Amino acid sequence: MKPKCVITLDLPEDIVAPLKGHYDVMAWAKADAMPEAQLQEWLVDAQGLLCALSTPITASVLAGAEQLKVISTISVGVDHIDLAAATAAGIPVGHTPGVLVDSTADLAVGLMIATTRRIAEADRWMRTGQWSKGWQSDLLLGSDLSQATVGIVGLGPIGEATVKRLRGFGCGILGWNRTPKAIEGVEMVGLDDLFARCDIVSLHTALTPETFQIASRSRLASMRAGAALINTGRGALVDEAALVEELSSGRLSAGLDVFEAEPLPADHPLLSLDNVVLLPHVGSATFSTRMAMVTRALENLQAGMSGEPLPFCANPEVYGLSA
Ligand code: DGY
Repeated sequence: MKPKCVITLDLPEDIVAPLKGHYDVMAWAKADAMPEAQLQEWLVDAQGLLCALSTPITASVLAGAEQLKVISTISVGVDHIDLAAATAAGIPVGHTPGVLVDSTADLAVGLMIATTRRIAEADRWMRTGQWSKGWQSDLLLGSDLSQATVGIVGLGPIGEATVKRLRGFGCGILGWNRTPKAIEGVEMVGLDDLFARCDIVSLHTALTPETFQIASRSRLASMRAGAALINTGRGALVDEAALVEELSSGRLSAGLDVFEAEPLPADHPLLSLDNVVLLPHVGSATFSTRMAMVTRALENLQAGMSGEPLPFCANPEVYGLSA
């Protein structure tokens, strides 16, 4: 009998077919996220789990998964997985660091320009037939990235790659990182200082209990009038209700790829605001990056199914190694 592997998302058949030679594959084929009860049922006798951000892997999901040898997520972030519960159960968790760094940094800079130069707003304006007067000296004015001071919150690989791109624009760069770090062209400052001094604040830190709502109500309130918040990390890094208030008053603008609740509810107040650029969590969405993420996730899955250490493990302490 082949070991059983559960896949929580609808992947192309050319990715799933080779797995079927080795494993008894059960794949969730619907576009909606897999319900927790269904996942619990499928995991009762499964050894492998291939998942993604849309399916929370909670302690109660893991409680009944007694034969599970590996969890492999097609993401670098693991905040959708109860890592402590997985480690306590002796289950290694694989993720996909490295391969999505450039795509995500590109998108962060793209959002900075789209927000400060009002690109999405201008596009909407044209499509609604409002361009009736030809060139106007004061039409849709924005601000220059080259003249901005940009604050990078979290200087891991994606934050650093964003800095590398920003150097080419000639803007000032402030940085904050959990552990001290020296990076060429970056003035390291405290978090409060960063929020208060920047024209653009860009979030690149992982979501943990310590970074939850790191862009708090008071830090948002301390930002300069006319400043922009960019988030390509996780929605819960921001006090979203406070951000909506700042945007509604017109004091701040924002470029957001991630949200507290995904998908964004159809009646969410952000959808009615013009001074925010909204993207549906597509930071890593290029053909080559998504392929590289899947490849890395399959390497983790296969290693775990064979009882070998995962090449990209998010909880190395499960092997008695330090994280
Ligand atoms: C990740 O991998 O964590 C991104 O948010 C999705 O690509």
